[in-house]
Amino acid sequence: MDYKVLLEQAKDIIVDSEKNKEQKLLGICQLLFDSIPYYDWVGFYFADHNKKVLELGPYVGDETDHVVIPFGKGICGQVANSNATFLVDDVTAQDNYIACSITVKSEIVVPLFVKGVNIGQIDIDSHTIAAFTPKDQEFLENLNLEVASMF
Ligand code: SME
Repeated sequence: MDYKVLLEQAKDIIVDSEKNKEQKLLGICQLLFDSIPYYDWVGFYFADHNKKVLELGPYVGDETDHVVIPFGKGICGQVANSNATFLVDDVTAQDNYIACSITVKSEIVVPLFVKGVNIGQIDIDSHTIAAFTPKDQEFLENLNLEVASMF
């Protein structure tokens, strides 16, 4: 996959004046889900800093029970606290992990910063073990720089 092309396609969604923010975020999830075969669940979580929880935003993939995740819990909750991308090759090797489905083997969570504040994250699950590479990390971090412009 050409990540440069994909990033341009994502930017086109972000500047689409006919879509609201929710529609743009969902469009980005769908674009990534459709374009990269090992992206099997793609979604955004957003932080409520008063309640110290993440709330599920737009996503594409199987329905999840985890619509609210406390800061610190699971891979997502850890990223809410650490402010750093978390790339997990094998989810079964993680003890602080929230399983969405037994089919998930690896995961990447990339924080979303707006004016230096960690407001949420993009979360991607894969059915393939060790699916994500530093190239995915770089791409998703660049993507979130663009997504940040919507906030
Ligand atoms: N696996 C995540 C929970 C969210 S689901 O993957 C959609 C975690 O451990 O935080």
